[in-house]
Amino acid sequence: MHVMIINGSPRVEKYSNTDKIIAAFAEGLSEAGATFEKHAVSRKESWPVILEAYTENTEIVIALPLFVENIPGLLLEFLETLPVKDKATRVSFILQGGFAEASQLECGKTFLEKLPDYLGVSYGGTLIKGDNFGIRVAKADEAKKITKPYKEMGKSFAGNNGFQQEKVKKFAGPDYLSLPNRVLCSLLFKTLAKKKFAEVSMEWGCTVPLDHRPWEQ
Ligand SMILES: Cc1cc2nc3c(=O)[nH]c(=O)nc-3n(C[C@H](O)[C@H](O)[C@H](O)COP(=O)(O)O)c2cc1C
Repeated sequence: MHVMIINGSPRVEKYSNTDKIIAAFAEGLSEAGATFEKHAVSRKESWPVILEAYTENTEIVIALPLFVENIPGLLLEFLETLPVKDKATRVSFILQGGFAEASQLECGKTFLEKLPDYLGVSYGGTLIKGDNFGIRVAKADEAKKITKPYKEMGKSFAGNNGFQQEKVKKFAGPDYLSLPNRVLCSLLFKTLAKKKFAEVSMEWGCTVPLDHRPWEQ
């Protein structure tokens, strides 16, 4: 199996969580004997090359972040440039988001289920998972730990000729966190996470608190 993977994030690869997820998924593909090629829509000058590869390949995975409950505008713009192909081409999706609950990704998933029909191609399923905010700020080994499950899914994708419905469901995690978990998360966001956000923003050159409201002065 040869898989063409497209990163649909507008963030350049260095800063893209999707890029790290793709790397883990591709590692799994390779371990299971598949080959892959990687593309990213973040730089528009590369779109002609991606378009050509899209035309030539028949096994395509589009990996994308959830942006405001759905797919990033730049990816939508790119998709509008694609030619209509036939059912011999299969397109599958890896949709990932920041918030942990799988229910967050349902709206985007519903859109992606309809998309292959517009493109004339077969639909290979959508792997969904949240809780990925931290990848780009995590240290390398910590980021690897977060993305490791994607490696397993890459292996499974190559070994089982595509996504397996039961595995995809399990991978997504709970639709909603349990009440004790929600209370705990809310506490964490008001304390530890708030502190971490403040630290990261200072590291990135922010000179005022994150809740700074200059318009109130
Ligand atoms: C503009 C914007 C909107 C976002 N909207 C959502 C959202 O609605 N739900 C969610 O769970 N995460 C949301 N996120 C978080 C991203 O999906 C998450 O951080 C993802 O891992 C980013 O991947 P990337 O770095 O490859 O773009 C949003 C992030 C940005 C920048």
